[in-house]
Amino acid sequence: MTAPDVSLNDLVHIGPGTLAGRYLRQFWHPACLSSELNVKDKRRELILGEYITLYRGESGQVHALTDRCAHRGVQLSLGWVEGERIRCFYHGWTFDGAGACKEQPAEPHAYAARVKIRAFAAREYLGMIFVYLGEAPAPAFPTYPELENEADGELIAAARAPVPCNFFQRVENAVDQVHVAFAHRDVFGLEGVPDIPDYSVEETSYGLCARGKRPGKADRLTHFHMPNINIMQVPPNKDELGWAPNIVWRVPVDDHHHRSVNIRRVKRDPQAPQISRNYERTTTDRQVEIARAILDGRMRLDQLDPIKDRAIIVAVQDNIAQMGQGVIANRQNDHLGRSDVGVIAVRRLWLDELRALAQGHATRQWTRPPGGVEMTSGASVE
Ligand code: FES
Ligand SMILES: [Fe+2]
Repeated sequence: MTAPDVSLNDLVHIGPGTLAGRYLRQFWHPACLSSELNVKDKRRELILGEYITLYRGESGQVHALTDRCAHRGVQLSLGWVEGERIRCFYHGWTFDGAGACKEQPAEPHAYAARVKIRAFAAREYLGMIFVYLGEAPAPAFPTYPELENEADGELIAAARAPVPCNFFQRVENAVDQVHVAFAHRDVFGLEGVPDIPDYSVEETSYGLCARGKRPGKADRLTHFHMPNINIMQVPPNKDELGWAPNIVWRVPVDDHHHRSVNIRRVKRDPQAPQISRNYERTTTDRQVEIARAILDGRMRLDQLDPIKDRAIIVAVQDNIAQMGQGVIANRQNDHLGRSDVGVIAVRRLWLDELRALAQGHATRQWTRPPGGVEMTSGASVE
């Protein structure tokens, strides 16, 4: 049973000092795409309820600092990158990548050596910039050999626009294969009560392995990695060949928004026109706007065409399901059953960890198999 000190409500508050916030700060999270930060660029990101400044020094190295200047609190991301430092827009103080103040140009008796702001570990990997917002030292950086092999196709990294609901709704959705048979049924040409998998989950050294069994088909294997990562194969988009390995992070922006960030390795049809960039951020939140319109009754889902609108329809369907539960779902009213084994398991893993944290015990050390995990599409067995 859940100890009274930890409840489902603790899963959703992610700011500094909250239980889930402290827990999430034990892990690396993707903050933006590498291609969004050229040399001498700077940008502000809201992640885990905190604004950070990311900048790329003239050496090419990425640095991450809190977004508040120590002088009078202006956003550091407004400043200028000089060498490996950033100079504040307001009165020109400069800070290095470790957060040390290096210059106070207007001070006759500069006291820069006594001024420091928070700096965060940052690392680039597979087209993404990752940050670690917790206490030093940062944990070992997890790698994903499943996506590293260039012979497996092109790397495509994408960061979706924030969706206005709590990240844990999206985490729960990803350990729920049953929803595919309903929420996405038109995409798969299904009707009525189709093809519901016999769904089971098994606890692993990294989180959960989920297995969906359907008559006449191979098992679909997907993986949940603590605290907010899914690894699975996804069906091909236009001009892509075969199912592709995919990693997706559900990153809390704040308590009321989350962002999905994903990396895929895809084989392309060699006859198809080459696309000019492999990295993109969804700058419009069209999927969110359409989901909002459908939830408000201003539009119907069947106004989208499963073929023509293929690029957005799955995201719209998931957004309807997540946003439709409310900005922060009230889980006390849920009626869970056998088919919710994934949801039950992921809540239990999380609550066990938060309870350990609340009681001052060590949390678990999650580890991945050295070669990665096996994932399967679950497509028809011929
Ligand atoms: S607020 Fe940054 S230098 Fe004054
Ligand atoms: Fe979905």
